[in-house]
Amino acid sequence: MNTFRHVLLCISVIPNLLIGLLTDEQKQSYQQNGYLVISDFFSNEACDTLRHRAAELVNDFDPSSTSSVFASSDKQIIDSYFLGSASNISFFFEKDVWSADGSLRLPKEYCINKIGHAQHDLDPIFSAFSRDPKLEELTHDLGINNPLLIQSMYIFKQPYIGGEVSCHQDSTFLLAEPDTIIGYWIALEDATIENGCLWAIPGRHKQGLKSMFISDGISHHEFVTLDPTPWDEENKVPLEVKKGSLIVLHGYVPHMSFANTSPKSRHAYTLHVMDASSHYSELNWLKRPQNFPFRGF
Ligand code: FE2
Repeated sequence: MNTFRHVLLCISVIPNLLIGLLTDEQKQSYQQNGYLVISDFFSNEACDTLRHRAAELVNDFDPSSTSSVFASSDKQIIDSYFLGSASNISFFFEKDVWSADGSLRLPKEYCINKIGHAQHDLDPIFSAFSRDPKLEELTHDLGINNPLLIQSMYIFKQPYIGGEVSCHQDSTFLLAEPDTIIGYWIALEDATIENGCLWAIPGRHKQGLKSMFISDGISHHEFVTLDPTPWDEENKVPLEVKKGSLIVLHGYVPHMSFANTSPKSRHAYTLHVMDASSHYSELNWLKRPQNFPFRGF
């Protein structure tokens, strides 16, 4: 290698070693807004591999084994199937997809809302995607020194069927003290206003947590209001992103998505991490048995 090329190579490598994956501007933007969009984080091939695996899981799933519905963040039907999904690969349907006789009105792959919440630990392909070294580096860049992967969701948002998810903060459902919850939202297809992209309210993560969802893991589940002030949803902004983009979400940033009224699906994968130094609340609905603890990268 000639000297000139060697110098160029060193210049291109050293900044990454010194400052990590995020620039100071990106870190400041995240702190200011409570979210950060990173384009081209995952390759098209990686996205397609995960999509293919999700399709296989749905294909192998027998819908008659459950009728659990995920209608929106605050309307989840809390049953034993949902609670068990903390430690399983479970399938949740959109509302209004069941006929009176208990069968699905459409092929099951169009009626599924999401798969959750432990495929990142139970399925090798989901685990490899979730434990991408780049994602680990990003997590450290965001100040999570000893990360644990808490939950995963594969969200389908199918054409004409994918429902609205109302404005919420992810930490409402994943309480930790101190709160180090970070959500990763990965576009497995282009996400646009038409097919129901994420919307977030910039800077509102600084106003604290508005509610807690607590559960004894059996029969008592409750939203506890901490701040009754409504969101200033008129200030929300759309986060339209290309396939392979990653959106970092602070646990307190309010976000939502509208129903998909378009002919295009909007598949996305979400993963939540926290620092092991935080205390994961016993009040969280998502409870792992002792023999299935949270793991890191
Ligand atoms: Fe969310």
